[in-house]
Amino acid sequence: MKRYWNVLLLLLPLFAAANKPDGAAIASANKQATAAGMEVLAAGGNAFDAAVAVSAALSVVEPESSGLGGGGFFLLYRNDGNAVFIDAREKAPLGATHDMFLNADGSADRDKSVNGGLAAGIPGLPAGLVLVSEKYGRVPLDVALKPAIALAEKGFLWSEKNAAMIGWRTEKLAASKPAAKLFLPGGKAPVVGARIRNPDIARVLRALGRSGNQSFYDGPFAKRLVDGVRAAGGIWSLDDLRQYRAVEREPLRFDYRGQEIITAPPPSSGGIALVALFNILSGYDLPTLQRVPQVHLMVEAMRRVYRDRAVYLGDPDFVELPMEMLSSPHYAAGLRASIRTDKATPSAMLPGVTLANEGTDTSHFSIIDAEGNIAAVTQSVNLPFGNALMVEGTGFMLNNEMDDFSVKPGVPNAFGLIGEDANAIEPGKRPLSSMTPTILVGKERIAALGAPGGSRIITQVFLGLSAILDGSSAIEVVTRPRFHHQFEPDQISVEPGALNESEQRELETRGFKVSPAERPWGNMQLVIWNLDDGSVEAASDPRWKNVGAGSTSEGSIYR
Ligand code: DON
Repeated sequence: MKRYWNVLLLLLPLFAAANKPDGAAIASANKQATAAGMEVLAAGGNAFDAAVAVSAALSVVEPESSGLGGGGFFLLYRNDGNAVFIDAREKAPLGATHDMFLNADGSADRDKSVNGGLAAGIPGLPAGLVLVSEKYGRVPLDVALKPAIALAEKGFLWSEKNAAMIGWRTEKLAASKPAAKLFLPGGKAPVVGARIRNPDIARVLRALGRSGNQSFYDGPFAKRLVDGVRAAGGIWSLDDLRQYRAVEREPLRFDYRGQEIITAPPPSSGGIALVALFNILSGYDLPTLQRVPQVHLMVEAMRRVYRDRAVYLGDPDFVELPMEMLSSPHYAAGLRASIRTDKATPSAMLPGVTLANEGTDTSHFSIIDAEGNIAAVTQSVNLPFGNALMVEGTGFMLNNEMDDFSVKPGVPNAFGLIGEDANAIEPGKRPLSSMTPTILVGKERIAALGAPGGSRIITQVFLGLSAILDGSSAIEVVTRPRFHHQFEPDQISVEPGALNESEQRELETRGFKVSPAERPWGNMQLVIWNLDDGSVEAASDPRWKNVGAGSTSEGSIYR
């Protein structure tokens, strides 16, 4: 007996390592936001407090991507195995109508759905921060918001990404006086490295920390927002703000080869797409295949799940979604049976609709704390700088998330995504999203990941998960060149280096159209906890080098 005890004692450190990581890790799209999260962990906060800190800091330092005027999804995993999904997605205002973005002749008015007051959904992020902090945090909200307030008051450093993204929106931003004053001082975009102070957003964050939702969704501040949006052609009312709630939903949890994947439920389209992708691909022995047959099968699976996205998905509070069917292995087997292993299936041969896209606004971050609690969060204002409208005295951009609805069946949105009635505009409804914060609870590794990129979010997360399951290091996973197919346009978009010449030719021989991308896409943020030795890794997508940062509590920084 004694002999066995010795063996057990020898194994003990292994179990101990598996129970808790060696330290904390954070990866976000901006190093100032990563530092904000680390600061709150050091002040006694858990991963969820740090998520509030990083989210609020991103609102300050990355106004092009997300913020208090937008929404987001918080996927939280506690070290006891419980997980919850906080849906802080924007909602259509109560005055919204099915055809609000159609001209008299029935054509879609893209300008209205992306610019100005009408484009803005009711913001959800502030309510999300309050809910995450009050229910799951350990330190008070005002403590978690402190670093973001400091960044706003003392000034944050204008990054290469801020500079690149403002180029897309200069003209529209110039038309919003408060936005122009802040982000186009003297009529010109700030130079990289300039210090930008934003006392208005500091005040809003301070009030949120002091009085919670009341400070934003009611009273004089709510009135200021409503008046500002209406003056810019919008239809918000005080009721819209008063009625807004961030809601808790059950995350989707499924198994792939004995490892658990926890991910975003509707109104995200991403989680159910991942379920279907892995279900379809579980019928093949992918790791044993050569690159071309591997990519062939992955692309065929992508094609089919993006078709289903367009046909079936929308806000689960408004439409009946066939979740059981879409997640069924039998349904996946049916889709698999339609895949030829030697030839591409033209999208036109599948019944259904059309889609297309890209982008790097929206922001994802991933956190693991030293106790093994995890947060995977994706937040957005949709297009760069949202609807390009800032209401005087607020310091944040409003979103243009109304464009994520299917403004008219068959008419693509800004990302080329097309939808059907399930995602049509209705008052109080949430537009369908592709944001896919995801957590892998594997046998050897636990990981949290996600990315921006509109319709390309889902395939990035899928490729990321596949690479983690293959055993790649965090930095390898975020660096690896990507490919993407979304049913329509019927082509494989390929980042430089994803496929060599001969692989591309072979895929073309099989009937695929291969389209080399002009620019890389995405901005993946990944943390991994290796269960064998307890070590943690954090990696920030190198596509925005010097801007994002992965950081562990030992101080190692991986870009
Ligand atoms: O929720 C969505 O799917 C979109 N609003 C995300 C937009 C996005 O990722 C833009 N950045 N690339």
